[in-house]
Amino acid sequence: MSFNIAIDGPAGAGKSTIAKRVSKELGFIYVDTGAMYRAIAVYMMQNQIDIHDDAAVQKACSKISISIAYSDDGEQQVILNGENVTGLIRTEEVSKMASVTSANPAVRATLLDLQRDLAAKEDVLMDGRDIGTNILPHAQLKIYLTASVETRAKRRFLEQQEKGDTHTLEEIEEEIRDRDQRDMSREIAPLRQAEDAILVDSSDLSIDEVVERIKECYREVK
Ligand code: C5P
Repeated sequence: MSFNIAIDGPAGAGKSTIAKRVSKELGFIYVDTGAMYRAIAVYMMQNQIDIHDDAAVQKACSKISISIAYSDDGEQQVILNGENVTGLIRTEEVSKMASVTSANPAVRATLLDLQRDLAAKEDVLMDGRDIGTNILPHAQLKIYLTASVETRAKRRFLEQQEKGDTHTLEEIEEEIRDRDQRDMSREIAPLRQAEDAILVDSSDLSIDEVVERIKECYREVK
C-alpha cells in the first residue's frame, strides 16, 4: 500500500516550499493540487467563461483535461488539454480566479479522481486545502500548516516582488484575507484542519525547522 502525506493550509503558509523539500528528502512524489485548480482558472480566463454561471462552468469542465508531469529537475508541470500551462499559473489574477472557481462542484469533481488515483499508486506527499479532510481521508500523516495573515502576506509579497510583480503589501494582505474567507467558507470541501491532522504554525519557524518537524512526525508514524 502506498504511504500518503497530506499537507493542507491557507494561502502563503509555505506549503509548496516545505512540501517540495520534505518530499525530496523522504523520496516521495510531490503533488501540488493548487496548480491543478490554477490551470482550470486559466482555462476559464482564456475562454471568457462566466464563472458565476454554474451551467457554463459545468460545460467548460466537460471540455477540460488536466494531467501532471515532472520536468528533468523534478518540478511538477501542469498540462491543460495537452498544453503545459505551468508558466501561466502563478499570477495574482490566477490566484484570485482559482479561489473563486474552486468553490464550484463541477470544478472539484473534475480533479477528485485524478488526485485520488495519483495517491493510490505511489508514495505521495500532496498539498492543498481539502487533502486530509476529503481527498485522502486515510492518509497516514496529515499536517495542517498555517501562519499569521501578516507573515503570509509578507512572504508572498517578497516572493512576488522577485518576479517583478507590482502589487503592494497591503493589496497582497487583502487578497490573502479574501482568499482565506472564500476557501474556508465555501460549501464543498472548505479549508479546515482535519481532526487527526497535526497543527504546525510556521509564523516563527524557519523553513528548515518546519521541514525537520514534519520529518519527525513522519518518523513517528511510519
Ligand atoms: O495552493 P494554491 O494557492 O496554489 O491554490 C490556489 C487556489 O486553489 C486556492 O486558493 C483554493 O481556492 C484552491 N484549492 C482548493 N483545493 C485544493 C488546492 C487549491 O480549493 N486542494
